[in-house]
Amino acid sequence: MKILIATEKPFAKTAVNGIRKIIESLGYELCLLEKYTEESQFLSAVADVDAFIVRSDKVTRKVIDAAKNLKIVVRAGAGFDNLDLDACTEKNIVAMNTPGQNSNAVAELVLGLMVFMNRNKFTAGTGRELKGKKLGIHAYGNVGRLVARIAKGFDMEIWAFDPFVKKETMQADGITVVDNVEDLYANCDYISLHIPANDKTKKSINYKLLNLMPENGCLINTARKEIIDEDELLKILEERADMKYATDVAPSNISELQEKFGLRVFATPKKIGAETAEANINAGLAAANQIVNFFKSGDTTFQLNK
Ligand code: 3PG
Repeated sequence: MKILIATEKPFAKTAVNGIRKIIESLGYELCLLEKYTEESQFLSAVADVDAFIVRSDKVTRKVIDAAKNLKIVVRAGAGFDNLDLDACTEKNIVAMNTPGQNSNAVAELVLGLMVFMNRNKFTAGTGRELKGKKLGIHAYGNVGRLVARIAKGFDMEIWAFDPFVKKETMQADGITVVDNVEDLYANCDYISLHIPANDKTKKSINYKLLNLMPENGCLINTARKEIIDEDELLKILEERADMKYATDVAPSNISELQEKFGLRVFATPKKIGAETAEANINAGLAAANQIVNFFKSGDTTFQLNK
């Protein structure tokens, strides 16, 4: 059995070592394609493998077609908008993610970004505190839940909107739950985005929604670039000198935004939310174990294309 790790943005060494241990202990072979720059490298690397692990790497129909022996692909992480699930299903290939494994890293980054923006990107000048402010969590999944938990330590008031999570579950965590998304934006000083990128959510964070935010509103996006309407983000930042935007998934117009809005906008140079040794180990090892369990006993927990 041949298993490939294909990561344009590689895992930490410790994570790769851990994955190797799991794979090789069963007599399987592990191969690595790291920091590749061309799709052609990915296409030739998958040609003879039985399984592969990716991060945000784009697993297109072309990749699936090139992987003639493929039985299972695992996205080591939560968001699976990089996987062509239809292409996998058509070829009877199991596609999985590893939900929850890198959530803490992303959640810690959210609070870090909030403090950073509140303190003028760690430059001189009068900042603001998080204490007593309202934080709106847009989607209460694995990351959103952890953001809420950490933010409570800052003495923030936590609000959330998530039509897919039971109201009682959120309320049991001491959260103010709203039934429509507008109420979240209209009431919260900070909004942290945790929605996936799909046909329904793309460009859904728009002018109308953002303009509901109270004075000094700050939007934090550690989710996906595609969920923001970038033209409308520019418009709101132009019209409202009080608003701030910090993101781990830079918009296409980031240079323009940074030039125009200085301390009010920040984007990490490359997505770093899940970029911790711990998150790499958790997600990488989970992916390896899911592959091994699939081959050993047909375990399809976390299959996305059921
Ligand atoms: C995820 O969906 O798990 C996160 O966005 C992390 O993505 P990454 O593996 O590209 O860092």
